[in-house]
Amino acid sequence: MPTTASPVATTLRTHAAGALRADHAGTRVRLGGWVHRSRDLGALVFLDLRDREGIVQVSFDPAVASPEALATAAAVGVESVVLVEGEVALRPTELRNAELASGDVEVRATSITIVGPAETPTIPVARGRGTPLPAEDLRLRHRYLDLRRPELQHALILRHRLAQVTRRYLSEHGFLELETPILTKPTPEGARDYLVPSRVQKGEFYALPQSPQIYKQLFMIAGFDRYFQIARCFRDEDLRADRQPEFTQIDVEASFVQQDDVIAVTEGLVQAMFAEAGVEVTTPFRRMAYAEAMERYGIDRPDLRYGVEIADVSDVFRGTEFGVAATVLDAGGRFRAIVAPGGARFSRKEQDELTALAKGAGAQGIIFLKRNAGVLEGPVAKFLRPDAAERLGLADGDLALVVAGPDHVTSPALDRVRQDVARRLDLIPAGRHELLWVLDFPMFERDPKTGALAAMHHPFTSANPDDLPLLATEPWRARARAYDVVLNGTELGGGSIRISDPAQQAQVFELLGIDAETARARFGFLLEALRSGAPPHGGIALGFDRIAMLLAGAGSLRDVIAFPKTTAARALYEGAPSPVPAEDLRELGLTTDTGDRA
Ligand code: AMO
Repeated sequence: MPTTASPVATTLRTHAAGALRADHAGTRVRLGGWVHRSRDLGALVFLDLRDREGIVQVSFDPAVASPEALATAAAVGVESVVLVEGEVALRPTELRNAELASGDVEVRATSITIVGPAETPTIPVARGRGTPLPAEDLRLRHRYLDLRRPELQHALILRHRLAQVTRRYLSEHGFLELETPILTKPTPEGARDYLVPSRVQKGEFYALPQSPQIYKQLFMIAGFDRYFQIARCFRDEDLRADRQPEFTQIDVEASFVQQDDVIAVTEGLVQAMFAEAGVEVTTPFRRMAYAEAMERYGIDRPDLRYGVEIADVSDVFRGTEFGVAATVLDAGGRFRAIVAPGGARFSRKEQDELTALAKGAGAQGIIFLKRNAGVLEGPVAKFLRPDAAERLGLADGDLALVVAGPDHVTSPALDRVRQDVARRLDLIPAGRHELLWVLDFPMFERDPKTGALAAMHHPFTSANPDDLPLLATEPWRARARAYDVVLNGTELGGGSIRISDPAQQAQVFELLGIDAETARARFGFLLEALRSGAPPHGGIALGFDRIAMLLAGAGSLRDVIAFPKTTAARALYEGAPSPVPAEDLRELGLTTDTGDRA
């Protein structure tokens, strides 16, 4: 019999229902929970009682339970909250339920009290195997019910455990958990800010932080040396399955560090978090330069669980009669391709779908070349030399998908096509975790049309010392001391060694087209601080929701965020955002051009 008291014991209950096991047999328990399912067999009533630990079967047998208890159990509605008292008993071997963690036992109830009766739930919590979930909008509207689902309970419990591991790991490594403001000045992470009007200073606004970036640098300048925060960030950007307007970062910064120091701490933390979820990963993670990632995979966060790498096949087309070849190559473009092993069997429809993907990324289309019985086939095959199939790397039954144009077109197109082909051909091994550092990012992205520079990470990222001279000559070629950590094609986090030299910071602002006055107005206090004795420092921020999502095996961030927003940035459970009374707007000195609706 267990000797220690249950940690969840209170004056109303002794144990968590879902935590009962064979070694509790013979224990008298009082439980509180939700009626997950009920079965009334006439002489006997069974209730499945659910709490956050799981489900246990409770039986009401006239030999043990009073007639009133039996009648109450028979009548109680699902999702009602009940208190149950009884004794834990081993089930006969043939009645054990291997699908329930508590399936070796049941609770023989003597009494039951309904303490929280439930009306018929709008959406069911218990579902039969294979029964589809109700529509997500409906589930988000009744979030408190959806959150009762064991899958979501597990996901949020895992999230809690990951937060605890993070705190423990970083505290043990000398990091201090410090908070930073939520009402702030706009931060430069590149998304739109959420603005909050000031009532006291009419016409002026706070911004919600896109990240604690500037504050964590100020902590370093203030001498706190190692900081972390499980920080809420706000970004008004287009949403996707892996983006929420309000999300959480594990934000880290340290002084007297170089890139390898930040990488080492991060790898240890990621390893500890994965271990908490039962996933073993080995360190050090693989490393790849940005340029190599773009060349081989067309993206700066490649999914390394499968091959299908991009190759430059310009030579196969150079000097041929294929008219497009000269046009593309003379304009400085290239022919790049992936080979889909066994892809020769793709139907016309499948090829059209792949073409649509490539076009969606800006490409003109895809040149398909397949090899069947040693012969190269496809509309363009007739223009190519006899060794083309060999040089494309095609075995019999393979398909080459070739995209032509400048790299800024072929890279995203082939990235999408590569991912899609891997899914179609089932090339993605289950249960594989390919962690990767992408290093040596360029400092700047150059707008292909205007040539204007934008920070690839953010304006506080320092240049690789070897490339400092380039800042004055060809800044778009300068590499940054920036790094991203990627898992199976998802960016888990990113960071950099920061600029600690005020002159370099001023130079970078200038290159970004931020004039001195704007720089002073927006980042004045960081610039001043940099002149007051700034240690070399750097850090990283990991997307906490994304890590929780991947480790929980969830398909969307919404499954690991208790109260998420929809892709239209709405909180359906409470109906936010919503209009406010005209009077409130007046007090803030605001008018809206939708008219004052309230
Ligand atoms: P960055 O903008 O790359 O860096 O963000 C770090 C990580 O946060 C996660 N993330 C998001 N997760 C969910 N929803 C979003 N909308 C969202 N946006 C970002 C990603 C990303 O890798 N201050 C820098 C970090 C630094 O330099 O130290 C920053 O915020 O997983």
